[in-house]
Amino acid sequence: MVARRPTRTVMRLVAALAPAALLAAALAGCAPNDFPQSTFNPRSEFAGMIQSLNLQLIFWVVLIFIVVQTLLIVAIVKFRARPDSPEPKPVHGNTALEIAWTIAPAIILAFVAVPTVLTIFKTQAKPVRTDLVVKVIGHQWWWEFQYPDLGVVTANEMHVPVGRTIVVDIETADVIHSFWFPAMGGKRDAIPGRPNRIWFTPDTVGVFPGQCAEFCGLSHANMRMKLMVETPAAFAAWVELQRRPPAGGGAAPDSTAAVSAAMALAPAPAPPAGSPAARGREIFGQSACIGCHTVAGLSAGVLGPDLTHFASRTTFAGSLFENTPDNVARWLTDPPGRKPGALMPNLGLTPEQVNALVAYLESLK
Ligand code: CUA
Repeated sequence: MVARRPTRTVMRLVAALAPAALLAAALAGCAPNDFPQSTFNPRSEFAGMIQSLNLQLIFWVVLIFIVVQTLLIVAIVKFRARPDSPEPKPVHGNTALEIAWTIAPAIILAFVAVPTVLTIFKTQAKPVRTDLVVKVIGHQWWWEFQYPDLGVVTANEMHVPVGRTIVVDIETADVIHSFWFPAMGGKRDAIPGRPNRIWFTPDTVGVFPGQCAEFCGLSHANMRMKLMVETPAAFAAWVELQRRPPAGGGAAPDSTAAVSAAMALAPAPAPPAGSPAARGREIFGQSACIGCHTVAGLSAGVLGPDLTHFASRTTFAGSLFENTPDNVARWLTDPPGRKPGALMPNLGLTPEQVNALVAYLESLK
């Protein structure tokens, strides 16, 4: 009798823990809204197809788990060793059983493979319609969004109208990245020399976080983005704002007219003379900023994000920081210190210069 005790204790432990483990596993999948980057929170037809496939696979996985675990527990309990048990009878082979456990997995795999392949064909197919084309360019470590038909260029925050099919052409300026807004479906890689494409129709107004999903260097984890799904009217207003000269002024006399025309953006009047923003614009125009950044009418750099409407964005630096004057000041003081590997160097700006640049950048509405 003494020998049976540990077995019983283990059995009771398993019996007590199994429901708890199952409950924990079930709860872990709950409340997708608490996890903004959950793939179980589809907000487009593309993501819906992935969701449907996922749920089918989960059904089979859970079914197999329950059947296997039930058989296992029954076997453990029914055939456990007892002090008075006779020697087990050796058996060799069972043709019916072996055929069954070969055919059953083959059928299950067919139930998995057919929907998977169908979903691959559907999500790789040409878009049924194209309401808006957005060209996405991955950079170490931020996202560029160009709207070729609208003459708009922006960074890190992609605006789209709800209920319209968005065709996203994906490219990269350097290494492989991967474009991924979990709520919209995806992912899809940005591969050097091989333009890629994805399309989706967002069905809900809101802000959805995204993330580069392919390791691309030191700040891969800091290569984030936001999708602003807006009503068509709000989207049209955003486009109009982006096409206007920035409220605070890119300034721009005649020499930069060609640049502005190329960008389809009109140059803007300079900020009021003597203001901190005017001083900031002067520093911007005289420093390395112009080599990498575009401000319509002032500069035409393409290595860093277009800053023409910097102040209209809620975040910056790969959507890593909230766009507040304090954060921008900290960033300008030491970019690589704020974001590991950031390609924007520490320009050794004085606090006075930083403050003036912040005033200028935050004026670029
Ligand atoms: Cu870009 Cu990871």
